[in-house]
Amino acid sequence: MKNQNPSSRRNFLRQSVLSAAGLTTGLPLLANDKSGEMFSILKRSGGFGPGDNLNIALIGAGGMGTQDTITALKVPGIKLVAVCDLYNGRLKDSKDRWGADIFTTRSYMEVLNRKDIDAVIVATPDHWHQRISIDAMRAGKHVYCEKPMVHSVDEGPAVIAAQKETGKIFQVGSQGVSSLGNEKARQLLKEGAIGDLNYAEGFWARRAPLEVWQYPIPTDASTQSVDWETYISNTTKRNFDAMRFFRWRNYTDYGTGMAGDLFVHLFSSLHFITNSVGPNKVYAAGGLRYWNDGREVPDVLLGTFDYPKSMAHPGFNLSLRCNFVDGTSGTTYLKLVGSEGSMDITWDSVTLKRNKSIASDDPFYVEKMKQSGQDLSGRKKMMPPEAITFEAEKGYLGGPYDHMNNFFTAIRTGGKVAEDAVFGYRAAAPALLCNDSYYKNSPMFWDPEKMQVIKK
Ligand SMILES: NC(=O)c1ccc[n+]([C@@H]2O[C@H](COP(=O)([O-])OP(=O)(O)OC[C@H]3O[C@@H](n4cnc5c(N)ncnc54)[C@H](O)[C@@H]3O)[C@@H](O)[C@H]2O)c1
Repeated sequence: MKNQNPSSRRNFLRQSVLSAAGLTTGLPLLANDKSGEMFSILKRSGGFGPGDNLNIALIGAGGMGTQDTITALKVPGIKLVAVCDLYNGRLKDSKDRWGADIFTTRSYMEVLNRKDIDAVIVATPDHWHQRISIDAMRAGKHVYCEKPMVHSVDEGPAVIAAQKETGKIFQVGSQGVSSLGNEKARQLLKEGAIGDLNYAEGFWARRAPLEVWQYPIPTDASTQSVDWETYISNTTKRNFDAMRFFRWRNYTDYGTGMAGDLFVHLFSSLHFITNSVGPNKVYAAGGLRYWNDGREVPDVLLGTFDYPKSMAHPGFNLSLRCNFVDGTSGTTYLKLVGSEGSMDITWDSVTLKRNKSIASDDPFYVEKMKQSGQDLSGRKKMMPPEAITFEAEKGYLGGPYDHMNNFFTAIRTGGKVAEDAVFGYRAAAPALLCNDSYYKNSPMFWDPEKMQVIKK
């Protein structure tokens, strides 16, 4: 099915040339010397106003929870009053960072029982997201839950039900969806900038130990400093193991591997940009090639996803790859390819490339050109630039700020968030099914509309 008509494509061409020339925006025409590519500046037109003060608490005060809280505190009117973590060192760090008057505890229920807290950030390892989010909403708190929303596919419906039942604001933390880069890509796709979408891809290459989840183990790690019994209370019972606590991403009881950690960001962005609800077929390949440090998850993973034709987009394929034993290839955040060109998308920029014009007397090609409103007279014409880079304005606070601000604005105005429980589940499910496909050595089938695994 076509989702962009020829007139919208012509319109896009006209608009892009005008705006690249600074004619619609008043911006100067700018050239990037290194690449010879044209670029123009992404600018947020509206803006979020400050409102009522809100008290927040952080549950899971490690790397991301700390970053999320730093970001949240940049939003006007937000105050941190409590921090919960299962490791004493993190509670001490929190008091050092945010002040001795912060209430700290190992028990998240003590946070939820406080009447002075409006919202919580849940940034624990993945196996605690569902339980804490549901308990928090039932305790009357709004929730910002880190991605992936859930640890396994069967955990999703209960979060959606709790959100509906309580009416609380629930935002999942794939912050890219609120970025200027993702918004621009969505607009360009809608305007027909790359024609009909046929393919998308994302790729990560990493090699440094810290990047591949070999985190340092604190010297005081013990059953005194860590509440191990609570940590494993919802999963397999085991004796204390500091690796399983501090390097949780490597173990399937707690983490969700490369797919749950990284692929999920791409699903969120892709679904936001294309308005898609998700793929219907998922198949994975991979292996543990190098990091034989006791991890249970692969260090090379490839995922292939079939997106069926829908009202929102034509049928297309998605390829996601991650290699933790590759120090040279860099990262392609998200690339979308269409019949007229492609887009390389990050949170701060979009580079749009248009197909080079091709002369042909092939009747099929000629018919396609006619349909897309292209001039076939043979006369040479003025061409728009082959590549245009849209970049966020200097001083842009970034997707993380916009996403957090979106959460607090929704609380203050009773509005909608960018990534609610349904959206978060539709992003998490294909990532988690990618793991299932890898471990079962079999394709997985998913009904993205009904959000159900299909058994074949
Ligand atoms: N959005 C992003 O870009 C992004 C980036 C990194 C991590 N994350 C997500 O954030 C979450 C945390 O990742 P991280 O890298 O910060 O891990 P981390 O290990 O640095 O932090 C997790 C913290 O949770 C604590 N914890 C564990 N179980 C708990 C429980 N039941 N109650 C309270 N505290 C508990 C641990 O002690 C630890 O301090 C993960 O779900 C991860 O996927 C998101």
